[in-house]
Amino acid sequence: MITVVGSINMDLVVQTDRFPKQGETALGNLYKTVPGGKGANQAVAAARLGSDVHMIGAVGQDAFGTELLTGLETEGIQVQGVKRINGASGIANILLSEGDNRIIVVPGANYSVTTGEIEGFTKQLAASDLVMMQLEMPIPVIQRTLEICHENGVPTILNPAPASGFTADFLPYCTYLTPNETEAEEIFGGNWEQALEEYPNRLVVTLGQKGAQFFDGEKHVIVEGFPTEAVDTTGAGDTFNGALAAAIAEGQDFEQAVRFANAAASLSVEKFGAQGGMPERDAVLGRMGGARS
Ligand code: RIB
Ligand code: NA
Repeated sequence: MITVVGSINMDLVVQTDRFPKQGETALGNLYKTVPGGKGANQAVAAARLGSDVHMIGAVGQDAFGTELLTGLETEGIQVQGVKRINGASGIANILLSEGDNRIIVVPGANYSVTTGEIEGFTKQLAASDLVMMQLEMPIPVIQRTLEICHENGVPTILNPAPASGFTADFLPYCTYLTPNETEAEEIFGGNWEQALEEYPNRLVVTLGQKGAQFFDGEKHVIVEGFPTEAVDTTGAGDTFNGALAAAIAEGQDFEQAVRFANAAASLSVEKFGAQGGMPERDAVLGRMGGARS
């Protein structure tokens, strides 16, 4: 069983041919609302790969909240740990253009989760094979979750996104840390490759299309990414994390788990929306089988 303590957002996605300049009005060619939030995305990625996933978080009493909860349930995710508050659900304003994205998150209900509530979930956390977090929740909630997991010997994955919320206090408590290159630089400085050596088989830096890098105790390992035709890269990192969690929870060794996660992420970018392209297990195995090396 995997427990995700994390954000649940509705993504308000607008696509346009080029990013508008400051003060400019541009015409868009598509608007869609699709479920997102790094926590929910990672939960969905793991659930599609067959993991038993429990979600802890919050949504609002608004229409988005209802849709988001139903969406998670449809994916087979347990949502007893998701409370509904009298307020707005979290949203992400996502601008897609020029093959890239720009995202503004308004946390809403996500920031209503308290450390006291997390303590109330101690049994759930202690019974988990793995607990996964990101940084779209209040920082004290992440810290408390990490401590409870540590006290109970439960392995954790912290995806430090967005990295602005990261504090060095987390480090002794994380089993696995999964920044992308930008986040790794923010956390460890320009020489993050050196930091990899301090956390062998625990710190993995994702490199986008190029794959992911970690240190195995003896040497640096770059697990190559799988070639893909990207339609929408939103949620690629979340797919990597959800798949990594699924693979680790079922006992795959670290390098194999990273390879599995790369394959899942490469499939996820081929469809619109953060959760749109998240694959099932067969598709991931197919991609791995078809790959060189
Ligand atoms: O990582 C992508 C996610 O970041 C989006 O789904 C959005 O909700 C933001 O949380
Ligand atoms: Na996608």
